[in-house]
Amino acid sequence: MKLQTLAAGLCLLMTACTQNPEAAMPVAEPAPAPASLPAPSVSSVHVTGASQIEIGAYLADLGGCHDCHTPGWAQTGGNVPEDQLLVGTDVGFSGPWGTSYPGNLRLTAGQLDAGAWADMMKDRNGLPPMPWPTVNRMSREDLMALHAYITSLGPAGEPVPMAVTDGSGPRTPFIWFVPQPPEAWPAQP
Ligand code: HEC
Repeated sequence: MKLQTLAAGLCLLMTACTQNPEAAMPVAEPAPAPASLPAPSVSSVHVTGASQIEIGAYLADLGGCHDCHTPGWAQTGGNVPEDQLLVGTDVGFSGPWGTSYPGNLRLTAGQLDAGAWADMMKDRNGLPPMPWPTVNRMSREDLMALHAYITSLGPAGEPVPMAVTDGSGPRTPFIWFVPQPPEAWPAQP
């Protein structure tokens, strides 16, 4: 049996021993079937650091949370007083989904324990441009560290307006989040 296997193996290596000349031609490997991308699973990955609060602060920076949830973050290069951090904004983002408002995370996180916060962030699928698909993929450990950081800031600010999704349009200033043709420039003041 072993010998036969050996012979077959040698035969494969020595193209001359094949009976079908076409089979001896080098044949291009068939292109691999396009594999659908596996759903990213990063639950085994989490950030380590000196404390949960420090990790959470780092993740809030890295996750871009302040860019939308802290008023004046971009305009001041991140120099926002602590009482303004992550309090949300009443300037809406408007698009085909209606108008959405980056929430007051200090009030929201303060109402949930770390586990409930992580569950919400893993499961919720809300309106753009909140990067829900991105936070859905964060590990529970990292989400709980974000909760530790946000709750360490304490409650501050006011609740933001409710999203408008009935087609009636925003009642607040809003940012039009829809691609415009170049002819639309210069934009209306
Ligand atoms: C591009 C802007 C943007 C960024 C970046 C962003 N958000 Fe949001 N966020 C929003 C908007 C808009 C909403 C409202 C979405 C909705 O109504 O579903 C929202 C909603 C939320 C809510 C629900 C608020 C509530 O009170 O119910 C949470 C929690 C949240 N964001 C956390 C985060 C965290 C944590 C990060 C950083 C990892 C982040 N967001 C980054 C825009 C943003």
